Amino acid sequence: MKRRDFSVEYRFANRVDHLKPSVIREILKFTGMPGIVPFAAGNPAPEAFPVEEVTRISGKIFAETPIDALQYSISEGDPALRETMRGFMRGRYGAFREFDELIITAGAQQVMELTVKALCDEGDTLICENPSFIGSLNAFRSYKLNLVGIEMESDGISLEKLEQALKAHKNTKLIYLIPNFQNPSGLTMSGEKRKAVYELAKRYNTLILEDNPYGETRFAGEDIPPIKSLDEDGIVVYAGSFSKVLSPGLRVGYAVAPTEIIAKMTVCKQVSDVHTNIWAQKICGAFMTECDYDAHIQKIKGIYRRKAELMMSLMDRYLMPKITYNPVQGGLFIWARLPEGTDMLEFCRQAVQKKVAVVPGSAFLSDESAPCRNIRLNFSTPTDEQMTEGMEILGKMAAEI
Ligand SMILES: Cc1ncc(COP(=O)(O)O)c(C=O)c1O
Repeated sequence: MKRRDFSVEYRFANRVDHLKPSVIREILKFTGMPGIVPFAAGNPAPEAFPVEEVTRISGKIFAETPIDALQYSISEGDPALRETMRGFMRGRYGAFREFDELIITAGAQQVMELTVKALCDEGDTLICENPSFIGSLNAFRSYKLNLVGIEMESDGISLEKLEQALKAHKNTKLIYLIPNFQNPSGLTMSGEKRKAVYELAKRYNTLILEDNPYGETRFAGEDIPPIKSLDEDGIVVYAGSFSKVLSPGLRVGYAVAPTEIIAKMTVCKQVSDVHTNIWAQKICGAFMTECDYDAHIQKIKGIYRRKAELMMSLMDRYLMPKITYNPVQGGLFIWARLPEGTDMLEFCRQAVQKKVAVVPGSAFLSDESAPCRNIRLNFSTPTDEQMTEGMEILGKMAAEI
């Protein structure tokens, strides 16, 4: 990129001045290059998109009500889609009470931003799982929150460490959790732990931000109700998304929270982007009401089951026991662990040079400079051939460690 050659010193806002491109993001730049095995991406599988249905719905919208899809709309979201999603949250999850409301957002990413914009002041503490989703962490960082990462156990966040943090940080405003197929760890929080976390939040007078983009992708095991389904006290803000079930490019998500919180988030959204793309909202609404949603979900579960099983069998064959991993039952990612003493960032750099893109685990830590031996691998984007090729290459690298 060309820089201007006269010298003006741009002074950025304190809020974002500390957000700098890191070594990790430098590695991520290579991930879209042709010929690279895309284990670093987070894209749904191309074959999981309901292209025919979306084509038909779009044709109908433009044949019957084109101006409704092109006109300005209201910040809360399309009334029909909101009503459909209220029903979905009640019927599917038992998670919409009389005190709750729902706002349509530009993806779940915007739920994280609007939640902290509405509820948090600079310096407030936000407790999160460690590791956690980089997009959310950066949203929290951009509001200068004090991020406190809590280590994970195989059934979710450590309760003991969570309680210690709640005791130590009296200014905790939110506990941010991804209970299903957590990005990046792939771990799912048990039902008992969801209840215990809810009770802790209540006892310590803090709110929970529950992010559930992968809940619908479970391809093995039993569904566990979201924390929001326990919420009799109005302490959970729930983030849902169409990205992993329909299309991330449409940029449609939603938040369910007590009415006062949604009202404040609505004003904040007005300031940010007025409203979510109404054409995309109409597509989501028609998809939910006019298409066979359950059949579509069964189809994508089948796609991800097959891909995840292939990926895990290749990892067993080429990487184990040197590189270990958490087996997964949903979501899009596998969290792998390099042997002790390995320079993880160097491993990722070398993998990119050998045309395999993986994400360095430290990208997902509340403190990116903390020691980390993990890498995140995505199984939804690569083809079967790319998976095999990529695992062979990583296997050779593992053998040399
Ligand atoms: C845990 C988590 N939360 C939120 C998002 C953002 O999703 P959306 O596309 O709905 O903004 C992602 C996307 O990968 C994610 O993994």
